[in-house]
Amino acid sequence: MALLCVNVDHIATIRQARRAQEPDPVQAAMLAELAGASGITCHLREDRRHIQDRDVELLRRLVKTKLNLEMAVTEEMIRIAIALKPDMATLVPERREELTTEGGLDVRGHLDAVTRTVRTLQGEGIAVSLFIDPDPEQVSDSARAGAELVELHTGMYAEAGDRKALQNEMARLIGATMQARELGLRVNAGHGLNYRNVGPVATIPEVEELNIGHSVIARAALVGVERAVREMLVAMDSKGAGCGVRGAG
Ligand code: PXP
Repeated sequence: MALLCVNVDHIATIRQARRAQEPDPVQAAMLAELAGASGITCHLREDRRHIQDRDVELLRRLVKTKLNLEMAVTEEMIRIAIALKPDMATLVPERREELTTEGGLDVRGHLDAVTRTVRTLQGEGIAVSLFIDPDPEQVSDSARAGAELVELHTGMYAEAGDRKALQNEMARLIGATMQARELGLRVNAGHGLNYRNVGPVATIPEVEELNIGHSVIARAALVGVERAVREMLVAMDSKGAGCGVRGAG
């Protein structure tokens, strides 16, 4: 089964709604680790809409498992990553108007800039992952860019409306995983995964880590971070009989 990395951005979203001091994503990260998370993920966005610079600095000092910094390919973020030295940097596309990261990074369209960024960060001892759609072109270009890892975008899988669409998306994820492994890339996955749809992805043997944010933090708001993380670990191990499609289970 894949390992769980919890994205704590949305604890910061609640805090920023009031420009207040709490809830604190750093405290949430500590609780997630205590409950069995294998890593903490956060996205320092250009507009600082949720995670702040202070958060990433404290997370770097306090996270005991592994810190994954999601970042856009910009000079500012590269500078911050070099100073921060997260265990892993995941390069993501970023547009100000989007609600969350919508689509994967277009590695083919930005091969030079992505390759330069991968080299720069790797030169600083930071492992680099590219967040991409499960498309053969993006997988092969991720290998060309020199990344060690890809994170396959599971958004289309999560939004599949019926059993056939779900099977298609699952086949795309498995195909991209196999292709990536053949090219020597390690594979993570994430986006839109929840307690109902996570099982099949978590149990693709070659997928090492899942990055999950919204569903865990949404449940944490009601039952607490530790219980939400523990319940996600159980769901990941379930093979997901229901597969997240209403009526399909
Ligand atoms: N992976 C990446 C690269 C993301 O940008 C996000 C969203 O911040 C996630 C995973 C987690 O997605 P979700 O919040 O839908 O679980």
